[in-house]
Amino acid sequence: MKRSVLFVCLGNICRSPLAEGVFRAELERRGLTDQVHVDSCGTGGWHVGEGPDPRSVEVGLDHGVDIGDQRSRQLAASDYTQFQWLVAMDGDNQRVLERRAPSDASARIVRMLDYHPEGDRRDVPDPYYGGPQGFETVYRLLERSVPGLLEAVMTSGEGA
Ligand code: 4NP
Repeated sequence: MKRSVLFVCLGNICRSPLAEGVFRAELERRGLTDQVHVDSCGTGGWHVGEGPDPRSVEVGLDHGVDIGDQRSRQLAASDYTQFQWLVAMDGDNQRVLERRAPSDASARIVRMLDYHPEGDRRDVPDPYYGGPQGFETVYRLLERSVPGLLEAVMTSGEGA
């Protein structure tokens, strides 16, 4: 089974689309694009079908990561068996993921900042109601955490 990672936040328009984009960019840099299936979703469905928040698109482009083609979707029960890794952006997302897990769930549920080398924060803060600086903070947290997450994914003994 191909390695697979699903990034999860609340609305799938701010944090998890950027996480998906930063992770894809790291896969590309390392020539691993074909080895890992990547997607993102929200626990909530308010923005289903919409593109990412323009502030997320902009901060991505500032750093050479284009997330403009992504479309929001909501977490589905099938995600728990179709993905090996469900990566929550914050503790609320993680608790919802755990609560909704079907009995046949096989994915492991982790938190993005578990892979941040400094580890002094546990949540990627929700930037939706704030200014552009919040989006830059999100980007920086993701950028520092993605290498450790990718390392964990590639050394997990899963995948073929
Ligand atoms: P996200 O941010 O979870 O990082 O995509 C949010 C987007 C939308 C809402 C909340 C958070 N909302 O309430 O619509």
